[in-house]
Amino acid sequence: MTGRWPVRLPPVKVLSVVGARPQFVKLAPVSAAFAQAGVQHVIVHTGQHYDALMSDAFFSDLLIPDPDVHLGVGSASHGVQTGTMLAAMDAVLDEHRPDWTLVYGDTNSTLAGTLAAVKLHLPVAHLEAGLRSFNRRMPEEHNRVLTDHAADLLLAPTQVAMGHLAREGLADRARLVGDVMTDVCYLVRDAVAAGPAELPAGIDPDGPYVVATIHRADNTDDPARLEAIAAALANIPVPVALLAHPRLRAKAADHGIELARGKVQVSDPLPYPALVRAVLGSAGVVTDSGGLQKEAFLLGVPCTTVRTETEWTETLEDGWNLLVADLRGLDALAARPAPKSERAHPYGDGHAAERVVAVLTA
Ligand code: UD1
Repeated sequence: MTGRWPVRLPPVKVLSVVGARPQFVKLAPVSAAFAQAGVQHVIVHTGQHYDALMSDAFFSDLLIPDPDVHLGVGSASHGVQTGTMLAAMDAVLDEHRPDWTLVYGDTNSTLAGTLAAVKLHLPVAHLEAGLRSFNRRMPEEHNRVLTDHAADLLLAPTQVAMGHLAREGLADRARLVGDVMTDVCYLVRDAVAAGPAELPAGIDPDGPYVVATIHRADNTDDPARLEAIAAALANIPVPVALLAHPRLRAKAADHGIELARGKVQVSDPLPYPALVRAVLGSAGVVTDSGGLQKEAFLLGVPCTTVRTETEWTETLEDGWNLLVADLRGLDALAARPAPKSERAHPYGDGHAAERVVAVLTA
């Protein structure tokens, strides 16, 4: 309302750029909140992830509207993948002229969407801004830092992220909104908790089991490293549901490494609701995924992270999450008892997407 008279303001138009699995999870609560608030929302899917299980399943299970634009970029080297998206985005942005281009997380799709919009002088908002691993070997770290410094509005999930942005001179552009992955994780948990866990054949959902995922280049691309990880997983004394990202399968095949050893059962990636249910019923999670570390924490399951550092440092509190890059003791740690301490709530209250809408429409 302006002055005394009700005025119908033109709806804000937001163009979301997504392309990889974790971005579809983040898009779900945001697109629902946009619909609720009457925000005009254009969804652009870059095609970075294209397998049905890595992409379509998330749209159907999480009730996300079909993308308005699909760039169909697919897999390639970082430069080619990012550059192809960047080239394709000009026409899309020219056609839609959004009030905000909204980019998510830290993938090559995030960086391409940001650069394309910035170069056309269109405002960019980065959701999940301010996360840092301080590991410059990670492509995700380049993507985050470059995106934060190019974007106009930085939507941070945590106080720690706000601190990183302030130290880089970006405090003026930063807003603390909370973590939208918490919104979706809690909603899905409540919907699936009463149902049975669907696990790979050979794993008893009522017995102790571990959920494992490995996909980062640092863990998959060097044959000696991948072999050491496969051997460590095989030493875990309880059954392991290894939910294999296409990169893991491809690299294991290239290097002639057998993943299904010991009690390890290899299966395709699970749809998001099934993943949440599998983690809820598990004794532990072993992963190198950022999102899964946090989901384990939110669901009250101990996590062992096969990396030297984490962006989600709050999960390390009281040993809910342990970093075991050298794999030592992984077998004993994977299904360790949950810490007795109460977990803090550093990731917000499950209403982050509403705050995103409030900031973008202010
Ligand atoms: C990407 C993101 C990462 C995110 C992850 C989630 C970057 C740099 N990395 O990593 O931040 O955590 O997604 O999954 O953007 N592939 C398929 N089918 C697919 C997708 C990928 O077969 O649907 C295979 C291809 O062989 C491809 C490889 O997986 O070369 C890696 O895919 P890519 O998109 O380059 O990166 P991710 O490892 O998935």
